[in-house]
Amino acid sequence: MDLFEAIKTRRSIRAYRPDPLAPHTIEQLVRVLQNSPMASNAQELRLIVVQQPARIRAVRRFAPGLSGHPAAVLVLAADTELAKARGGKDGRDVALYLNAGVTLAYLLLAAHGLGLGACPVRSFHAAAIRTILDMPVSVEPVVLISVGYPAEAPRAKAVPSMDEVVFYERYAQSRA
Ligand SMILES: Cc1cc2nc3c(=O)[nH]c(=O)nc-3n(C[C@H](O)[C@H](O)[C@H](O)COP(=O)(O)O)c2cc1C
Repeated sequence: MDLFEAIKTRRSIRAYRPDPLAPHTIEQLVRVLQNSPMASNAQELRLIVVQQPARIRAVRRFAPGLSGHPAAVLVLAADTELAKARGGKDGRDVALYLNAGVTLAYLLLAAHGLGLGACPVRSFHAAAIRTILDMPVSVEPVVLISVGYPAEAPRAKAVPSMDEVVFYERYAQSRA
C-alpha cells in the first residue's frame, strides 16, 4: 500500500472478526519497534503482545476504553528508569511519551498495511495492567493497541478545516 494511501485510509477500528493472527503477522507488526525513531535512540520502549483469550479478558476488565474482542492486545510500555538514564529528566518526562506516540503511529500504520484493524486505548487502569502482565513498577504501560481483522467500516469523524490548524510562516490568532 502506498504510504499516503495508508495514512489517508487508516482509521480506528473497534470491532473485530474472531480470526487469530498468524505468527508471521505478529512478527511483522512487532518488528516495527526497530524502525521507529526515538529521541537519543533511547530504546526504552517495550511491547507486550497479549493473545491468550483469558489474559485479553483480564486486560479488558481494566481497560474501559477497549472495545470489541480483538485477537491481540499490544501493550506499548516504557522502562522509565532506562529513559531517565539515557535521556535525563526530559527523557523520562517528555521524550518517552513522544517516542511512544511515534511508535504507536508506526504500529497503527503497520497494522493497517497488513489488513488489520487497530485502535489505540489510553483509557485503562495502569496498576491493574501491570499486575496482570507481571510488569515491574519501573515499566509504565503507556498505551494499549487492540488489533484484529476488521468487522466494521470506519466511523465518520469530524476534522477541522486545514486553514484552522495549519499556518504558513506565522501563527494566525483569529480565524473566522
Ligand atoms: C493516545 C490515544 C489514546 C486513545 N484512546 C482511546 C481509547 O481509550 N478508546 C477508544 O475507543 N479510542 C481511543 N483512541 C482513538 C481515538 O478516539 C481516535 O484516534 C480518534 O477518534 C480519531 O479517529 P481515527 O483514529 O479513526 O482517525 C485513542 C487515540 C490515541 C491517539
